[in-house]
Amino acid sequence: MHTPVLYGEVISALQPRAGGFYLDVTVGGGGHAEGILEACAPDGFLLGTDADAGAIERSAQRLSRFGTRAVLRQSWLDEAPALAQRLGYKAFDGILADLGLSSNQLDDPSRGFAFMRDGPLDMRFDSRRGLSAAELINRSDVAELTQLLRENGEVERAGQVAEAIWESRPITTTAQLRDAVSGVARSRGRIHPATQVFQALRIAVNDELRRLKAALPLLFGLLSPGGRLAVITFHSLEDRIVKQAFREASQYEETQDGSGMQVQRVNAAMRRVNKKPITPSEAEVEVNPRARSAKLRVIEKPAS
Ligand SMILES: C[S@@+](CC[C@H](N)C(=O)[O-])C[C@H]1O[C@@H](n2cnc3c(N)ncnc32)[C@H](O)[C@@H]1O
Repeated sequence: MHTPVLYGEVISALQPRAGGFYLDVTVGGGGHAEGILEACAPDGFLLGTDADAGAIERSAQRLSRFGTRAVLRQSWLDEAPALAQRLGYKAFDGILADLGLSSNQLDDPSRGFAFMRDGPLDMRFDSRRGLSAAELINRSDVAELTQLLRENGEVERAGQVAEAIWESRPITTTAQLRDAVSGVARSRGRIHPATQVFQALRIAVNDELRRLKAALPLLFGLLSPGGRLAVITFHSLEDRIVKQAFREASQYEETQDGSGMQVQRVNAAMRRVNKKPITPSEAEVEVNPRARSAKLRVIEKPAS
């Protein structure tokens, strides 16, 4: 089962309360969602969404004891705000995005996320739509592969790695990709050299960076006054996007009056709760090594 990362920190950031409305746009195994539903008992509500149909099934089972207090739907992150509106939920007191991959996805060889287990090289969160990682690789030339690895993962020696992949085509399995890059990709400390390559491909296959950029302003717009958005990232590229969007949304706008003599400060749309990201304790990383790169940022819509 997936162990939720920064669990206590997320619950204390969102401060769920009875009667509140919550949205979890990466509901995964339902771990954080369960904590939110417990904390907003007896009548708080949670809408949980995820691009992965399996995640919706798993969280539906885990959250069944909450009855109609939990509603679950399959959706991409950037499409969840429109879905919420269609379902009639206009605003939320707390929203959570816990990005990346769940242990359930990583541990299932048929999904193609892990290089430690052989399986079809798929990597799609929503297996109904879009190109699999194998199709993406086999249709790209070296220049496109290089760009993909740089833009989605800042992969070191991206050109050489792209050439190694290109020369090994067609690649259809996770083991083939791992073996193709193992000699060229650079390992960081004890991290396997294929790690960065697999992560970059997954981010590209699911268009994760573009979706995150598009989703953040929509999620700000869904917050009730006093409501909070918490985002957990696992990659520096994702964290940069969140940091920048939070900074921009919380800036005071300065406008000149008609005569150009006086500068007026217009209130910021949002307030950052923490300027520095919250990271897991050593004890958490020891128990759950997948937490090691997690960063939590929290932003609030001012109450007035
Ligand atoms: C780290 S897991 C979430 C775990 C969850 N918080 C829990 O406690 O069980 C991330 C989940 O987000 C989903 N996901 C990642 N990126 C997504 C995106 N752009 N749109 C929709 N779902 C996404 C994945 O399918 C995965 O189930």
